[in-house]
Formats: sequence, structure tokens, C-alpha cells
Amino acid sequence: MNNMSEQQGLIESFHTDGYAILRDVVDRNAITALQEASVEKYRDLVDAHGNYDSDSVCNTVSFAKQIGRDHDVEALINRVSRSPNLIDPLELILGPDISMNYEIALIVNDPADRSSVTNKPYHQEQWTGALSDDLTVWIPVTPVDEKNTLNVVPGSHFYGALPHRNRNLVPMDGFAIDGVRTITDINVGDALVFHSLLLHGTAGRSDNLRIALTRIYRPTFAPMSRRMQARGSICIKQGVLSRIRDALGNDAYSPLRTYGGKVSNLPKHMEDDFQV
Ligand SMILES: [Fe+2]
Repeated sequence: MNNMSEQQGLIESFHTDGYAILRDVVDRNAITALQEASVEKYRDLVDAHGNYDSDSVCNTVSFAKQIGRDHDVEALINRVSRSPNLIDPLELILGPDISMNYEIALIVNDPADRSSVTNKPYHQEQWTGALSDDLTVWIPVTPVDEKNTLNVVPGSHFYGALPHRNRNLVPMDGFAIDGVRTITDINVGDALVFHSLLLHGTAGRSDNLRIALTRIYRPTFAPMSRRMQARGSICIKQGVLSRIRDALGNDAYSPLRTYGGKVSNLPKHMEDDFQV
């Protein structure tokens, strides 16, 4: 996104609607390989164990977690999450210092699953512990259709934090959800980014298996909820002031700590890690 008017358009639509779709920003090879691997592994697990356990609890969530911990899948998710064409536009929203949450959330929407955990009612991510600087990025791993995608309520991030009861809105006098938009114009390779106060929910189930990746990105120095702090985050991009501080190595700016040449505490691999 090099064009100034495109960049301004992203900022304005995110401000107005509370979400935006970033087109063709995800590493194409990585997302294709992730689709193949995650669908195959999910189908294998269903074949081996069935959709429900012996207590009639749906296995979908535990299968998804298991797939996310697979070494190869984790590596692909890492490539997808760090796609340069994804991170660059995020900088317009988050600023130059960007971190992402450590946790990986692979969400499987299986037609055979009857759980509300994977077919969520309208809610705000704030319910999960996200603060207003936490940006949710929802990346379809498989194609979506109108029945298994996400619904969003444009502009609802300006409603403020709404009362929830177990990830479900508590009915409020005089308040109704209207202006729902079903996100169908999104393809594998795109990413939906949305504000933590945006009302959103699963559109439902269709006849097709749908897998998506959810990750939270934030300005590195923004306040975090204690829950998010405890779960950890990873720095993926540093602004120039952070790079200078990083080279200086400590907040006391110890005199001449790096005097005499290339600093010993900034090896090349760190520069690569932070995309400086
Ligand atoms: Fe959500």
C-alpha cells in the first residue's frame, strides 16, 4: 500500500467503521500451505476420533488447538502473521512499534459442530481482555461463504464497552443491533482487521468447513490488560527510536556502552527479527 490516498482511505474507513479489509496482503505460499496442512490434519483427527468425545462434547476446539501446536503448522502461522504486506498497513493504525500476542488462535467452523464457542453470538473482543489499542486480525485460511463468515456492525466501536454475559450481549432497553454487514468479500490472502469494541459474531454454519486464524496486534508501548500481559507478546517491528534504544541496550543509556564500533548486543539475526 504505497499510494497516499489508499493509506488515507484505510485510516478513514477503520476510523468510521471500526474495521477494514486488507486485500492480498498475506504471504501466498504460506497461507496456501497452511490451508492444506490444517484441513488435512483436522480431517485426520475427525476420522480418528469423531466430532464428539464420550461426554458428547464437540472435539473441534481441542482439535484446532492441537493443530496450532504442530511444529510445521506453527511455522506457517508465524510466516503468515509476519507477512510484510500485512505488517506495513498495520503500521498506519498501530504506529511504528508493533507486537503481536503470543497465543495462536486457529478457529475451525465445522458444519458438524453444534458448539457456541465456534459459532459465536455478537460480542466485543473487549470481553476477552483486549483493550482499545488491541487490534484483532482475522485471516481466512480457507474460503468463506455467507453462512460461515463473520458478521460485523460497522460503527459499533463508538458504542463503548457493552455489558456481556458469557460472551453474549446483555439485553439493554432501547438498544438494538442494526446495520449488520456480512463479510463475504474476503478471500484467502486477505485480512480483516477490527477494533476491540467492534460488535461481531459468527454468521453461522454452512455445508463447508471454514478455518481462520485470529491474532491480536498492538502498539508495543500501549497499555495491556493484565490477562494479555500474562499471556505474553512478541515484538515484530521496531520504530527508529526503539532501534536506537535497542542499540544503546539499557534505559540508563550508560556512557560509551557501545563506543568503538558495531555493538555486541545487536546481532544480525535481531535486525531480521524486527524487520528494521
Ligand atoms: Fe471475537
